[in-house]
Amino acid sequence: MKIAIGCDHIVTDIKDTMVDYLKGLGHEVVDCGTYDSERTHYPIYGRRVAEKVVTGEVERGIVICGTGVGITTSANKVKGVRAPLVRDVTTAKMAREQLDANVLGIGGRITGLGLMENIVDVFLETPYIETKESKRTIEAIDALASESRGLEGDEIFDEFLEKWEAGCYVDSK
Ligand code: RB5
Repeated sequence: MKIAIGCDHIVTDIKDTMVDYLKGLGHEVVDCGTYDSERTHYPIYGRRVAEKVVTGEVERGIVICGTGVGITTSANKVKGVRAPLVRDVTTAKMAREQLDANVLGIGGRITGLGLMENIVDVFLETPYIETKESKRTIEAIDALASESRGLEGDEIFDEFLEKWEAGCYVDSK
């Protein structure tokens, strides 16, 4: 399977570990960054992964930040993305079976690596079970999203990066 993965600067090592894990399983991985621990902002990478999924360039996405909250929320703002923030195997299974979830959100500072691997396995292996109800539900959920801003550059987040540089924010997790 072709999978896009993205993270912010505080979990780059965990993302790299997951890239190796996915490649070890035989998947093709598109690493959307970030690539080091230089301070950056999670919406950039949530959006990059999300857009690769909705354009069909990849089949699934995985997004990781400290808690998973910020990057998963960002990915969900891209029309066509259904991204649960997952901390257990049952949720991963249900999200695939009932919601045809296409992006997996993970809190890299919350979920241990072993559990993370189990969650990823289930997320990638579990098929969507289409029923009349699930189809209608997904259509209704997707219809809630307005058109996303499209493929504009990451400069829409420059203001926040500058503020971060200026010490206005601190890393929470
Ligand atoms: C990084 O500063 C941290 O806030 C982020 O990784 C994430 O936990 C946000 O949801």
